[in-house]
Amino acid sequence: MDVLAVDHPLVKARLTVMRDARTDNATFRAALHELTVMLVYEAMRTAPVRTERLHTPVARTEGYWLANPPLLVPVLRAGLGMADQAHKLIPDAQMGFVGLARDEETLKPTPYMESLPETLAGRPVFVLDPMLATGGSMEYTIRLLTGRGATDVTAICALAAPEGIEHLEKSGLPVRLVTASIDERLNDSGFIVPGLGDAGDRQYGAV
Ligand code: PRP
Repeated sequence: MDVLAVDHPLVKARLTVMRDARTDNATFRAALHELTVMLVYEAMRTAPVRTERLHTPVARTEGYWLANPPLLVPVLRAGLGMADQAHKLIPDAQMGFVGLARDEETLKPTPYMESLPETLAGRPVFVLDPMLATGGSMEYTIRLLTGRGATDVTAICALAAPEGIEHLEKSGLPVRLVTASIDERLNDSGFIVPGLGDAGDRQYGAV
């Protein structure tokens, strides 16, 4: 599996704000928004472009358009905090939604929402979720996508645990990962260490 851990001082600085336990909900959301812009920017580096000649007020030149904008799929709740920023960078993108809650005991994802286009053949998909912990939620989401014909999936995660990366690698699913950090490990409760806590709770409050 292709893994890109974006190594950039601005990425590290935003992630630090998110990691800091003193950061309030509003500041956490703002840092995640800014981090998302940087991760999506990197994830789009290899996106295909269509070219066409155009006139500037001065001369003729080559113009560039996205040839095949990705479908954006935030995984609720936490992924919602990445959706708007990704959409601002790629205004032509269509958006689908998946809702999953991880069972605190079993750590297995429980689905509660799915709103996706019927067929995804030939369409790149960006899954937006701040956390890749055990990888169960991401695997579940990617299986929904491949079940509709997707063969080109990018997982965009603020943080990833080595266990989650290994899980996705073993699954054999067609996915690459773009993340701001590969952390040390998962603890016994399935939290990423050092991590940032629960990205849903830190944005929206505990449920
Ligand atoms: C978190 C996170 C991922 C998932 C990661 O969501 O946003 O979706 O857990 O864990 P995994 O890799 O072990 O599956 P959570 O289920 O806490 O729901 P929330 O987004 O509503 O807070």
